[in-house]
Amino acid sequence: MDQAVGLRKNGNGELKQGGFVAKDRPVPRQPVRVMAVSSGKGGVGKSNVVINLAVAFDRMGLKVLIMDADLGLANIDILLGLAPKYNLSHVLNGQKKIEEVLVAGPGQVRIMPASSGVQELTRLTDEQKLLLLELLDGIETDIDVLLIDTSAGISDMVLYFNLAAHEKIIVVTPEPTSLTDAYALIKVLYSKHGERHFRILVNSATSEAAGKTIFAKISKVADHFLDGLSLDYLGAIPHDSAVTKSVLQQRALLEVFPQAPAAQAFLAVADTIRKTQPSVNQGTIQFFWKRLLNL
Ligand SMILES: Nc1ncnc2c1ncn2[C@@H]1O[C@H](COP(=O)(O)OP(=O)(O)O)[C@@H](O)[C@H]1O
Ligand SMILES: [Mg+2]
Repeated sequence: MDQAVGLRKNGNGELKQGGFVAKDRPVPRQPVRVMAVSSGKGGVGKSNVVINLAVAFDRMGLKVLIMDADLGLANIDILLGLAPKYNLSHVLNGQKKIEEVLVAGPGQVRIMPASSGVQELTRLTDEQKLLLLELLDGIETDIDVLLIDTSAGISDMVLYFNLAAHEKIIVVTPEPTSLTDAYALIKVLYSKHGERHFRILVNSATSEAAGKTIFAKISKVADHFLDGLSLDYLGAIPHDSAVTKSVLQQRALLEVFPQAPAAQAFLAVADTIRKTQPSVNQGTIQFFWKRLLNL
């Protein structure tokens, strides 16, 4: 099993991966906002949300890393017309350094293709996890926001990401199944894992009022059945043909149609997120990796 991951220490006890030796990094570390973007159901616009929030944060001067961790339909790269050669699994098997796996996205946004490799994270030995942690830590200095595009549904990996992230954004659409599936995801995180705080983003809304109505529906059910749960409303992204056009062009909506109603709504949502730091301690990105790796 040790061989599953090409990470081991050299004779001096230094972390060695390929020819790379991790250097001591300066402390103290900057807090990073780690946001898991999830949905009960696929096809609700989660990846578009991740990409456009990333571009919006980038324009605010924040350093953004997207982790494409959707095991089923990883498509941040396709939506952005990128063709990453490597992914997290190449880091895990020792072939590549983290920095070599990251891909440049719009603006200064960077992307970690992680749909391959993420599942392996749960199968590492503790020593392998610690070594990986040291390597992952190397990219910390450059990140203010880590946005994770998780798979739809309630698989173990989705739960891990949500538990490890500081902020949990759940994307819903007006479709009734999207609401019931989102509720199922919230419920399992609440009842099995004690998560109390979620942020709801309505996508493909027919109007701002419709977005609020959808939020009201989901919070009513949640209030009724899940004591102590707190749901924040992040706002609504309108249904907008410019989104589809940007997908066809394989570019971020904010880059190609910055004046489109959906683009403006993404900017507003990003602004809301920026202004509303959760009161809990953010912790460093190392805490996030530790929680994710269950260390
Ligand atoms: N606000 C929107 N308005 C119109 N179409 C949208 C909107 N958001 C998403 N879509 C459409 O839905 C499709 C799926 O979006 P995507 O982000 O890939 O979903 P997910 O990641 O949840 O599977 C997109 O290709 C796009 O055509
Ligand atoms: Mg997606």
